[in-house]
Amino acid sequence: MLSYTLCTGTFNMVCLIEPNMPISHAHVCARENASNEYQRLKQQNLLNSELKPRPYGDSIAIPVITGDLELEFEAIERHNPHFELEAILENPPKKWEKLGDMVIFKQGTDTSEWDLQEVAKSLAVNRIAIQNEIDPGPMRESKLELIHGEDGWVVHRENFVEYEFDATQVMFSSGNVTERRRMGEIQTKDEIIVDAFCGIGYYTLPFLMRGLAKHVHACEINPNSITALRKGLERNGVSERCTIHEGDNKITMKNLRGIADRVILGLIPSSMNAWGNAIRCLKPKGGVLHIHMNVHEDEIEEWAGKTAEWFATASGKVVEILHLEVVKKYSPRIMHVVLDLQLA
Ligand SMILES: C[S@@+](CC[C@H](N)C(=O)[O-])C[C@H]1O[C@@H](n2cnc3c(N)ncnc32)[C@H](O)[C@@H]1O
Repeated sequence: MLSYTLCTGTFNMVCLIEPNMPISHAHVCARENASNEYQRLKQQNLLNSELKPRPYGDSIAIPVITGDLELEFEAIERHNPHFELEAILENPPKKWEKLGDMVIFKQGTDTSEWDLQEVAKSLAVNRIAIQNEIDPGPMRESKLELIHGEDGWVVHRENFVEYEFDATQVMFSSGNVTERRRMGEIQTKDEIIVDAFCGIGYYTLPFLMRGLAKHVHACEINPNSITALRKGLERNGVSERCTIHEGDNKITMKNLRGIADRVILGLIPSSMNAWGNAIRCLKPKGGVLHIHMNVHEDEIEEWAGKTAEWFATASGKVVEILHLEVVKKYSPRIMHVVLDLQLA
C-alpha cells in the first residue's frame, strides 16, 4: 500500500512513500563527489548511518541528521544473517557473495535439503545461485548456476556506480572492488581513456561517473558483456561519453592510435598481447598505463621493474613507475597486481 506525504525542504515537493521507508534529512551532491562527501559527513558526525544513500535525479542523496530537505531512504540492515541461517539450516555456509538481490554460495555447497524460499527470505534476496569456476578462456565467462529465482540479471551498486549484468553469463569479480574504487578516485576530467578489456564496465563506469572522464573508448569481445555495458552506461546516464568498440582489441585498438591520455589493460593472467597497441593508443606526448598481471608473490617488484624497462624500450619514452597495487590473491602464492606507468 502506498501513501503520500508532503516534505518541505529547499524545494516544496511531494514524495511517494512506501510504508516503513524512513524519512531523513538529506544532503544532495553530484555523483562524482558522493564518496568524498560521505566520508566528510561521517567525520563531522553529520551522517545518519542507519540509512543508505540513494540516487536523487542525476545526483546522490546522503542521509544526514540535519538540513532543509527531507527524503525517504532505505534502512541499513542490522540483523545478523548468520544467525538467521543457523535457525533454518543445519550446517549453514559461513560465507557468500551478494550481487544486487542475488546471493551466491561457493561451488560444492550442498543445497539439496534447503528450503530455498526460506533461505532467500532470511538473506533478504530474491535469487540464489551457486558459483562455479570462471571459464579460464579470455572471455572469463561466468559458470554461475541459478538455483532459485527467475533470471540472472542483477543491478549491483558499488561506490555510487550501478552495474547491470546477467551474472549467469558474465563474471563480476567482487575481489576487484578496491581497484574499481581506486580507478574511480583518479581525477580524469578532460581525459580520453581507452579501456582495452572493459568487460561490463568495471573501470569504464567509475572513470565516467566519478572521475568525469571526457570520453572512454571501451573495447570488448564478449557480446554478453557489451549488452551489460550498454545497460550500465544508460542506467548511469553516461552513454554519450562512451564509445564501445566491439570485437578483438588486436583490431579495434588499431583505430584508436594517438588519442589516449590513459589506457587500462585489465586482463589477467596477462594483458601482454595488447601492450604494443596500448603504447600506440597513447597521445604522442605519452600518458598513463594501468597494467594488470598475475605475478608470483616473491616476484612482484622484479616484474614491475622489468615491465617498466620493457615499456621504455618499446616506446622510446621515459617511463616512471607511479604505483604498484596488489589487488587480490588469485590462487596460492599468485597475486593479481596492477602496475601504473607514466610514459613521457
Ligand atoms: C577479466 S575481464 C575484465 C575484468 C575487469 N577488467 C576486472 O578486472 O574486473 C576481461 C575482459 O576482457 C575481454 N577480452 C578478452 N580478450 C579480449 C580481446 N582480445 N579483445 C577485447 N576484449 C577482450 C573479456 O571478454 C572480458 O570481458
